[in-house]
Amino acid sequence: MNLPFSGFSKLSKEEKINWIASTYFSTPEEAVTLLKKYWNSDAKIQKLHDEFIENTITNFYIPLGVAPNFLINGQYSTIPMAIEESSVVAAASKAAKFWSTRGGFKTTVIGTEKIGQVHFLYQGDVSKLDLFFAQTKAKFYSETENLTANMRKRGGGILNIELRDMTNEMDNYFQLHATFDTKDSMGANFINSCLEQFATTLKNEAQLFDLFTETEKNIQVIMSILSNYVPNCIVRAEVSCPVEDLAEKHIPNPQEFAERFVQAVTIAAIEPYRAVTHNKGIMNGIDAVVIATGNDFRAVEAGIHAYAARKGQYSSLSHAKIENGIFSFWLEIPLALGTVGGLTSLHPLVKLSLEMLQNPSAEELMQYVAVAGLAQNFAALRSLTTSGIQEGHMKMHLNNILNQFEATEEERHEVRNHFKHHVVSHSGVVNFIESLRQ
Ligand code: MEV
Repeated sequence: MNLPFSGFSKLSKEEKINWIASTYFSTPEEAVTLLKKYWNSDAKIQKLHDEFIENTITNFYIPLGVAPNFLINGQYSTIPMAIEESSVVAAASKAAKFWSTRGGFKTTVIGTEKIGQVHFLYQGDVSKLDLFFAQTKAKFYSETENLTANMRKRGGGILNIELRDMTNEMDNYFQLHATFDTKDSMGANFINSCLEQFATTLKNEAQLFDLFTETEKNIQVIMSILSNYVPNCIVRAEVSCPVEDLAEKHIPNPQEFAERFVQAVTIAAIEPYRAVTHNKGIMNGIDAVVIATGNDFRAVEAGIHAYAARKGQYSSLSHAKIENGIFSFWLEIPLALGTVGGLTSLHPLVKLSLEMLQNPSAEELMQYVAVAGLAQNFAALRSLTTSGIQEGHMKMHLNNILNQFEATEEERHEVRNHFKHHVVSHSGVVNFIESLRQ
């Protein structure tokens, strides 16, 4: 193997593929054929995807599904979900349908504030730095005026800039901690551009500040970057109904169901091992909508998990209670999303997903995403506290095995009949198909 390869990024796509295929694969032609099979037949669409990232060799598909019947604040919506895990879309749809006859989902946006920081080192008299900051603060706004003009026109911009003394955590460490309103954009580029200008202003103005000594003038900016932790950019989604209204075919005793459900949520609130899996189920819904709508799911994941640990112990994102005979279930999560900019106007399927949601504002999208998370969590807890999740999962798994064995319609019929009365396991299904074929 001829590694490292210098200048790989300069190769054409074809050359990159050929190099990969001949370097790593025992049958290079097959690898090339497979990679090309996943190219889009429309050259324009393929070029678009090629240019989303660097060194693109092909496309990696994730199915886009839809969960209909979401009644949210009195209006029905169909939610697009991009996810590779089976059962998630079915679970969301089931939960949507369940709550559509029990008042639906209610949502509220509690805040939309984004955050960015300039991390810097200052060695000297802190009271002089305070004075310098007070005198320079207006400059941070004026010197970013051209960057913020458009955002201000849309009603957003820089909300506040604070000086934070972090020297208890690290010697000479201070921050400019800034808050922003980025309206319908996620705002990463806007925030980072403002922060880099703050950093320049900070360094330049320090040089001109007469009260500073030479050492104090020499402010060192370590980095300027937005924070993906947005605890004041919060959306709440909830469902509630009288306990007796929870009754349906699979919930014969609604009081018992509601109590077990609340206990399951309490366990996730107090016990981190369970909390992580509980929240993972919520993220099944959240990520799927975040991806379908072209948003950055890594940013969302990082921010949400930090929020789940904000009290010092990782805990449940959702909450449940029974009060005066009313069952309530809700979650509050931080979500920094955009419906303009980024992939939203570039990726044809993102555009389609947004149109399916009636081209929402960022605040409206926050509400859809939170509802998908809550629905997912409801569906998971409902299964876990009643039949267990394997029943549903194994049904899907059964299908996957049948597809893997390219089972005929007749075989599928026989297998499904047999496993109505037998526990589904991989080996059990394989053995049964093999016995049918003998
Ligand atoms: C599986 O993707 C998600 C669940 O494990 C979530 C949960 O346990 O609550 C079912």
